[in-house]
Amino acid sequence: SRIHNIAVIAGDGIGPEVVPAAMRCLDTVADRHGFVLRWTEYPWGSAYYHENGVMMPADAIRTLAEHDAIFLGAVGDPDIPDTVTLWGLLIPIRRRFNQYVNLRPVRTLPGVPSPVRGAENVDLVIVRENVEGEYSEVGGRLYRDQPGEAAIQEAIFTRVGVTRIAEYAAKLARQRRKRVTSVTKSNGIVHTMPFWDEVVAETLANYPDVELEKVLVDAMAAKLVLQPTAYDVIVASNLFGDILSDLAGAIAGSIGVAPSGNLNPEREYPSMFEPVHGSAPDIAGQGIANPIGQMWAGAMMLEHLGEEAAAREVVEAFEAVLASGIRTPDLGGTATTAEFTEEVDARLRALPRPEGTR
Ligand code: NAD
Ligand code: IPM
Ligand code: MN
Repeated sequence: SRIHNIAVIAGDGIGPEVVPAAMRCLDTVADRHGFVLRWTEYPWGSAYYHENGVMMPADAIRTLAEHDAIFLGAVGDPDIPDTVTLWGLLIPIRRRFNQYVNLRPVRTLPGVPSPVRGAENVDLVIVRENVEGEYSEVGGRLYRDQPGEAAIQEAIFTRVGVTRIAEYAAKLARQRRKRVTSVTKSNGIVHTMPFWDEVVAETLANYPDVELEKVLVDAMAAKLVLQPTAYDVIVASNLFGDILSDLAGAIAGSIGVAPSGNLNPEREYPSMFEPVHGSAPDIAGQGIANPIGQMWAGAMMLEHLGEEAAAREVVEAFEAVLASGIRTPDLGGTATTAEFTEEVDARLRALPRPEGTR
């Protein structure tokens, strides 16, 4: 049968709680559809750092490159500076594997009320630039402990980088409602953004059937809350896309439901799938984390691997459980991670066998 080799990095905090929950449901659909997810778990992250002084071993990138995809929980530990955990694991993987698209769908889920009025039918996708922009490595701390002390970071936008993310957004919009909203800050202040606007407009000119709208990021934060149903594909720089994805996730009910795919569309390298949320140290160890973001990220991974039917079943299963009123506390319910997962898995196991499988 078909085998997909998956590297698993459960990581820190609630990562090791939601990752096995998602793996269990993914294994159930894999079995139903006659393929195998061959998981290889890597114990990298903050515990590994406490032992070894690094977040992952020196040859980690080479090791990960051998896999068809990477399934990540989260990294981040209150006892280690975020600069160490993030630059030691998450960011190098995104960059070395040229995962320049960070795809973040946000949808209203059945039985999950939005904290925002009139947000019953939200269905948007954030296409976040994932390897450059405000997250550049250029700059740093200067003159430490001296009177002229400073910190500098350059925002770097390249023509290649902006063109390809705009192109990805345009192609995605073609399969959806044919609207791209480009989020920017080009009113003369952030002087890299007029370049972003120019390149996005030039790229979208090749997609005359796709409508392009430009919105300043501060206004976008308000518009997303006031009229979240108005948006289809939102294309944004690394930092703006990061911020707007937590906002959009919360509008859909909780950031605990939001999935994300770090994609290398050319498939030269493995892509990485993870929830939008972090390690949530405030609830870690309590068994109450919402596993939906991780499950949905797993469904995106299956889709990427060509297992569309199995991916759909995972999403339909957690939607059905939500519709039945079972929810974790972040959505106002009382279910634990384990209880919610058991319900999803039970639904998957109860489905009739797909045609052509034993
Ligand atoms: P966070 O996303 O971890 O948590 C924000 C809030 O949302 C918390 O109150 C948390 O309890 C809640 N929450 C998050 N996921 C949830 C879930 N699945 N179910 C229920 N509630 C959930 O953001 P933070 O607190 O700002 O960051 C914590 C750490 O995670 C930091 O070290 C940060 O750098 C890191 N982080 C890592 C990633 C990643 O690995 N990709 C992403 C974001 C943050
Ligand atoms: C995310 C996270 C990361 C990001 C952090 C932890 C570096 O917030 O994946 O959304 O900003 O990309
Ligand atoms: Mn984020």
